[in-house]
Amino acid sequence: MIRATHHFPKGFLWGTATSSHQVEGDNRSNDWWAWEAEPGKILGGHRSGMACDWWGGRWEEDLDRAADAGQNAHRLSVEWSRIEQEPGRWDPAALDFYEQIVQGALDRGLTPVVSLHHFSNPVWFLDQGGWTKPGSVEHFDRFTAKVVERLKDKVGLWVTINEPNVYAYNAYSSGLFPPGEEDLQKTILVMANMTRAHAAAYRTIHAIQPEAMVGMAHHYRGMRPAHPKNPLDRLVAGLRSSAFNDPIPGVLRDGIFRILWHRKRIPEARGTQDFFGLNYYTEEEVAFSPNHPTELFGQGGFPAQADLSSTGFIANEPLGFWRALNWAHGFRLPIYVTENGAEDPYGGFRPRYLAGHIRQLWRATNLSWQVCGYFHWTLVDNFEWERGWSQRWGLWALDPEIQLRTKRPGADFYAEICRENGLSTDMVARYAPEALPQLFPVDDPGQLAAGASF
Ligand code: BGC
Repeated sequence: MIRATHHFPKGFLWGTATSSHQVEGDNRSNDWWAWEAEPGKILGGHRSGMACDWWGGRWEEDLDRAADAGQNAHRLSVEWSRIEQEPGRWDPAALDFYEQIVQGALDRGLTPVVSLHHFSNPVWFLDQGGWTKPGSVEHFDRFTAKVVERLKDKVGLWVTINEPNVYAYNAYSSGLFPPGEEDLQKTILVMANMTRAHAAAYRTIHAIQPEAMVGMAHHYRGMRPAHPKNPLDRLVAGLRSSAFNDPIPGVLRDGIFRILWHRKRIPEARGTQDFFGLNYYTEEEVAFSPNHPTELFGQGGFPAQADLSSTGFIANEPLGFWRALNWAHGFRLPIYVTENGAEDPYGGFRPRYLAGHIRQLWRATNLSWQVCGYFHWTLVDNFEWERGWSQRWGLWALDPEIQLRTKRPGADFYAEICRENGLSTDMVARYAPEALPQLFPVDDPGQLAAGASF
């Protein structure tokens, strides 16, 4: 076996990512709080409740955990519905709270990355039609200015909107997120408005803080044809991937929003990213299916032999991450992996998932692509949207009833990666021995040629 350490560039950011509604608790003024109270919306009838009780102050102990575990960065989001509970009424105490967290991160040696929108909206905003209305752009811009004015001396990296594609499809096509609609036209409109809002926020942030780095967190879902030789599988896989993954990064590059048959110029969006935020979790196979017209005649799924997470939500597909990085690299911007991770309550899956994905990340840095940081999803188990508490994504387990945290094996593994700024065979041997032969192939060139995957 090859013994090696894969080193990352100096100054690489290693952290975890969280979002306000998922960790704070008691977020009564946003659309999710009301949605969770409706029967049948959240798996098992779960509620966010106290979540990880960050609003009650437990962010301090969790950021201690992150820092003690060798991390040097943290990605969090601010909750719009706390800062602007009613249109134009700003809550200085909420802004104080975020300033304290951000200062708390800095005091612990964690570079803060702040997202301005991560799925949740103020109730008043949704009541006015939310992101389907052109006024959403101005509302979001005003909110952005308030937050950036307050945090500009402490935050240099901003994510305007997290995963606008996931938000738009879930809220307006699959009906999984509030307001639970199923309307493709609205889905497209919401993506376009979020793009405009991003472009306005980009300029506002730079006007207040010229040196800031501003981007979006783009969710990339890998989609490969189930049978690569079948032209119909290839066609639908390509179609679905381009409808889901490409429209927003595309319009931010050239000002043209292309989705399916729809094409619109949004010139103000052109060139409004200083970095590329990439969220990658998994890759699926897509087969042509005449029975799925609303899904562009494709059916997505994981292959029978896939290495699946406990609820089958994620397949461990590190090569899909490599392809996602390749795709992101095509936008010729510095890349931050703003999310990557897996649900795993027992801790036996995450280490090999981590090992495989960090190795692919290293391949990218090794090609001198500008990959600047990696944020694992997530630090402590949190409220997982329509899946409630049924999935456990944390390096630390949480019992939300009693707020008890318990470290999972992946936490120590990730801590070693962060401290070493690298991944070694020795670490993989200790935390994910089953992944060793595949990740670090034998030092026999014959075997490499025979297709050992790296
Ligand atoms: C979202 C997170 C979520 C994670 C795992 C991502 O798409 O940005 O908020 O918790 O997926 O479900």
